[in-house]
Amino acid sequence: MARRIKIAPSILSARFDRLGEQVVEATKAGADMLHIDIMDGHFVPNLTMGPAIVKSIRPLTKVPFDAHLMVTHPQGLVKVFAEAGVDDLTVHVESEHEVSATLKAIADAGVKSGLVLNPATPFEKAVRYLVDVDLLLVMTVHPGFAGQAFRADVVPKIKEARAYIDREGIGCELQVDGGIKVDTARIVAEAGADILVSGSGVFPDHIAENLRALRAAAEAAGKARR
Ligand code: DX5
Ligand code: ZN
Repeated sequence: MARRIKIAPSILSARFDRLGEQVVEATKAGADMLHIDIMDGHFVPNLTMGPAIVKSIRPLTKVPFDAHLMVTHPQGLVKVFAEAGVDDLTVHVESEHEVSATLKAIADAGVKSGLVLNPATPFEKAVRYLVDVDLLLVMTVHPGFAGQAFRADVVPKIKEARAYIDREGIGCELQVDGGIKVDTARIVAEAGADILVSGSGVFPDHIAENLRALRAAAEAAGKARR
């Protein structure tokens, strides 16, 4: 049977003057989760959303909130985002922290956890944490901004992660983020991704149509893979 690939629209590309409306629209269009990019202006050269935004959109949808923390010091932010209503928190292996301690703090806060790898970071850096996380996020752009071009040089790492997770029978889902549009959705689905994040491929216009096209591309590729 073909895998059902999940699509996680990133609200970073939504219109912030109509954020609530666009969250509702993405929900109605069948988004499986909403990806929330948290940037601190230090780990990456951009500043985005804090817990107040998460809290204000939380009542608008039942779809899980997947928060991607692109911050230098993630551990101190875990509690405040968990309390604001996120369902999972993913943290970069490249941030300045004791990864195991942060993952424990996330679990203690009662939300799912994930680890993120930048394009230049090898898969091996994640291996020892995989049994403790729900998600492994492989970045296909250097984090910081929506709308960047997909990096095809990361595809072998996605395949490597897929093979390892399957071979070892690990329960974590494989997520891919950055430059995912209809053509690249096909590539990463074929490489074995379970969850596709897409910002500018979904928002801000024609949300339902974009989501449908992404899903169709991903599912056709997912079927071809099995
Ligand atoms: C990049 C963010 C991504 C971004 C994706 O730093 O982590 O989630 O919003 O945007 P697109 O799909 O436009 O590359
Ligand atoms: Zn992201």
